[in-house]
Amino acid sequence: MKIKVKDKEFEVYLTAEEISQRNSQLGQAIAQDFAGEELLVIGILNGSFVFMADLCRSIDLPLSATFIKVSSYSGTESTGAVRSILGMEEKIEGKNVLVVEDIVDTGISMDYLIKALSELNPARISIVTLLHKPEAFQFNYKLDYVGFEIPNKFVVGYGLDYDGLGRNLPDIYQLSTPLNQ
Ligand code: IMP
Ligand code: MG
Repeated sequence: MKIKVKDKEFEVYLTAEEISQRNSQLGQAIAQDFAGEELLVIGILNGSFVFMADLCRSIDLPLSATFIKVSSYSGTESTGAVRSILGMEEKIEGKNVLVVEDIVDTGISMDYLIKALSELNPARISIVTLLHKPEAFQFNYKLDYVGFEIPNKFVVGYGLDYDGLGRNLPDIYQLSTPLNQ
């Protein structure tokens, strides 16, 4: 089924049911890897809020959950984008941190985050991302848990937005390719 978000057409790529099944598997794998330990789960706003809510409920471990946001704005200096972490109130030193992202595309955002969080001396940092576009990935750091590897095509829904819209769609949609392309 095709839908329109703002000015573009999208078609279903992953259904709510497929996502839910994968979330259970991810939750089980995480619970197994951290068995007997406690987790601090950090969701990256805005995109991860839906995935975060479902994933946390599939991890059978004692855990606390919080959210942070990465601000990015173009600097005037030649270094380009200047970033900072907003909302980092939790003490993460000595803790098992699980960073939750909706999608790792080029990997630039996650690269910045992992470096910044590592400076706060957690016991261990692991990454879980629902979606990953390997063709666009510019780094070689390890993504510990990946829900779905997807082609380098724009997706929307289940927390992911197109120009702010579409985050409330229960399924994940892919940009439709017009027949003449
Ligand atoms: P990266 O820094 O290139 O890995 O991009 C990460 C961020 O870009 C994600 O957290 C998303 O907010 C956004 N993003 C990348 N690809 C998509 C997409 O296909 N749909 C919606 N947002 C995306
Ligand atoms: Mg995001």
